[in-house]
Amino acid sequence: MIEIQHLKKQYEMATPLIDVNTTINEGDVISVIGPSGTGKSTLLRCINMLEVPTSGHILIDGEDITDPKCNIRRVRTKLGMVFQSFNLYEHLTVVENCMLAQTVLLKRSKQEAYDKAIELLASVGMADRALQYPSQLSGGQKQRVAIARTLSTDPEIILFDEPTSALDPLSVSEVEAVIARLKQEGRTMMIVTHSLDFAERISNRVFYMDQGIIYEEGSPKQIFKNPEKDRTRDFIMTSSSIELFIKEENEISNAINKIYNFCKTKNVDDRRIMHACGAYEEYYAILSKYSFKDNKNLYTKVEYENNTDKLMMRFTPDSYKDWNLVVDVITNSLEYKLFTSYIKSFYEETDSDKFGRYTQHYEIK
Ligand SMILES: Nc1ncnc2c1ncn2[C@@H]1O[C@H](COP(=O)(O)OP(=O)(O)O)[C@@H](O)[C@H]1O
Ligand SMILES: [Mg+2]
Repeated sequence: MIEIQHLKKQYEMATPLIDVNTTINEGDVISVIGPSGTGKSTLLRCINMLEVPTSGHILIDGEDITDPKCNIRRVRTKLGMVFQSFNLYEHLTVVENCMLAQTVLLKRSKQEAYDKAIELLASVGMADRALQYPSQLSGGQKQRVAIARTLSTDPEIILFDEPTSALDPLSVSEVEAVIARLKQEGRTMMIVTHSLDFAERISNRVFYMDQGIIYEEGSPKQIFKNPEKDRTRDFIMTSSSIELFIKEENEISNAINKIYNFCKTKNVDDRRIMHACGAYEEYYAILSKYSFKDNKNLYTKVEYENNTDKLMMRFTPDSYKDWNLVVDVITNSLEYKLFTSYIKSFYEETDSDKFGRYTQHYEIK
């Protein structure tokens, strides 16, 4: 159990944490959401004493880790941290990354540390990369190694600071799947995330941070469907996007349900909701009929802009290049005609993202 009492963190120019109070119980999976600059990262960094709090107390199983007499190196092994930017040791192999804290901080033998590292790497699907260096891995693989490394000291809680923000869509789903498995194992976790969709799926408690405090706390249902306070409601309403990632045709109805529910919570009119669901269905139909080869991955972002009342969809298929090869067939197809009837005519923009994929961007009619 972790108790946070009157935690305050003041910098010269900012006081991100004014008075944070909470108790984290074993098995809790807490999502921390809120606007940028509201101290979410600072909170995580204070909990594992990467930052020294200005005042207040943090008790882990009754031991006050803010007490100067506390051995912080030992305590830190109980507090795993996973960063957006992975922070792996580039000069060490994957397995060495997962051994270092075990041998140095926990004084485990090399053999014991190695065995444990391999076991954990296997659990995140990375055992076959044990002897490679971080530079040889994709972002999602690096983050899975970072998670295995964190688990190597048997932490009581794992603190994630936007673990998927630097990842491409496929890697996001890999890493989310690992986090979902950790939840099933009963691990205690605190996850700062921008993905409200993920927060809703993964956590049993949600902290909305604002004004230097945990401004509102509740179950995902309470916070996302029925927030009590105005600032929370504004944040939930204006953070208006969902991300969908499907790999198989049979996942499409589930995805369409999500689009429907998302639009409903944004009070989008029924005609446009139908168009959005229709556009999604036809887009996938076009890909699967004319363009997909082995790869049926489709990443989609649906965004609603409150102030302009625009409903936008961005499609990022893995095999867009194939689309270009069969463009005549596609544009003459029934699916394409249906699709174009759901979108604002020819409002289209294609660009290449940093992973070399093309995104098509449409406004829903
Ligand atoms: N090391 C630091 N020195 C000075 N100010 C900082 C430092 N870290 C964070 N801040 C300030 O504290 C505030 C909260 O930052 P942060 O915790 O990173 O917010 P969030 O993670 O919610 O976006 C910001 O105003 C930021 O500029
Ligand atoms: Mg942050």
